[in-house]
Amino acid sequence: ATLDMELEQIMKGSYPHFMLKEIYEQPESLLQTMRGRVLINSQSENKTNALQIKSDVHLGGISQRLSDFKRSSRIIFVACGTSFHSCIAARQVMEELTELPVTIELASDFIDRRTPLFRSDVCVFVSQSGETADTLEALRYAKKCQALTVGVVNVVGSSIARITDCGVHLNAGAEIGVASTKAYTSQIITIVIFALQLSLDSRSKQVRRKEIHDALLALPALVKKTLTDLDEHMKAIAQRLRDNTSILLFGRGYQYATCLEGALKIKELSYIHTEGIHAGELKHGPLALIDENMPVILFASQDACANKVQNALHQLMARGGISNMIIIGTEGDSNLEAFRDKAQLVLVPQTVDCLQCVLSIIPMQLLSYHLTVARGLNVDQPRSLAKSVTVE
Ligand code: AGP
Repeated sequence: ATLDMELEQIMKGSYPHFMLKEIYEQPESLLQTMRGRVLINSQSENKTNALQIKSDVHLGGISQRLSDFKRSSRIIFVACGTSFHSCIAARQVMEELTELPVTIELASDFIDRRTPLFRSDVCVFVSQSGETADTLEALRYAKKCQALTVGVVNVVGSSIARITDCGVHLNAGAEIGVASTKAYTSQIITIVIFALQLSLDSRSKQVRRKEIHDALLALPALVKKTLTDLDEHMKAIAQRLRDNTSILLFGRGYQYATCLEGALKIKELSYIHTEGIHAGELKHGPLALIDENMPVILFASQDACANKVQNALHQLMARGGISNMIIIGTEGDSNLEAFRDKAQLVLVPQTVDCLQCVLSIIPMQLLSYHLTVARGLNVDQPRSLAKSVTVE
C-alpha cells in the first residue's frame, strides 16, 4: 500500500490531485490530439487562389473509409456522461460541415428504445475509457444492424476501440481523476477535426474550414492563458459558493453543452445540487426557481445566440440576486460591460464560435475543483462513483 501511495505521488508530480494535474495538462493534451492530424499548410496564406484557402486535416483511422461515410444518410453519436456532453458541444459544427442530420443518444436510452438503425447509418461511440457497459452494448447492437461503427476513444486497446469498424484515438494521455476533464476537451476537438475531415472536398465550406483549422492551432495557447488568468479568480468564487445547496447553470447554442458539463462536474465532485439548463427553456419552468438567493452561472459568448443570451440575462437579473450572478463571457464583449458592477464577470479569450466551449469549460473545471477542496471532499475519488462504469 505504501508503494502504491508513493507511486501515486510520483505520478501526480507537484500537483495535490490528479484532477488538477489533468486540468493543467490540457494545453499539451489538446496539442497531442492534433499532432499529425491538423496540418500546418504552407500554402494556406496564399489567398489569391480560392483553392488554396485549404486547411488540411488527416485522420489516419478513418481516411480509408471516407467513401463509406459519403454514402451515409445520418450520423448518430452514442455516449454517456461527460462524453455525451462532448457530442452535444460538437454537434452543430458537424451538422454545418457535413450537411447531414446528426443525432445524439445517451447509450442507456438508445439501448432501451432499440432505436431503428440502418446500414446507411454512421454510429459514433465516444468514450474516454472505451469500456463503459452501456456504450459497449449500444455498439454491439449497432454492429448487429450493420451500421458503420466509429470509435472516439482515449484508451488504446479498449473494448470499444477494438470492436468498432474504424476510429480515432484521443491521444490525451491517461486520465485518472474520476471527473473527466482533459478527455472532454480532446473529445470536442476530435469531433471537430472529424467534421473537417468529412467536409474536405466541399468547396463551399473552405473559408469556414480554414477559420476553424486556424483556431484549432491557436487553441492550446489560449487554454494556457485561461488557466493562468482564472485559477485564483475561480478559487475566490468557490469560497463564496461553498455553502450553497444549489446552483443553476444556463447556456444555449454552442454553450448548451458547457452548462450541462459544468453542472455535472460540480455535482459529481462537490455534491452540491446543480442543473444545466438550456437558456431557451427559462420561461418554460426554471424561471420559477430564480430568487435573490439562487446562485446562477450564465454562459454568454459573442456568437449567433448573443442577443438571445442577453435576453435571458435580463430576465435572470430582474428576478435574481445581483451578487449571486456569475457570467462566463469572452474578452472584449462590449455587451457585458453594463454588467460589470452587477455580476461576477469571468472572461475567457475569444476564439471561433464552435471552439469557444473548450475555453468556457475551463473556469467550470477549476470551480468544481476548488469547491470540492473548500468543502473538504475527495477530489479524485468522489463517493459512489467509478472511473469506468463497466456494469449497467
Ligand atoms: C465524468 O466526469 C464522469 N465521471 C462520467 O460521466 C463519464 O464521463 C462517463 O461515465 C462516461 O465514461 P467514458 O467516457 O469512459 O465512456
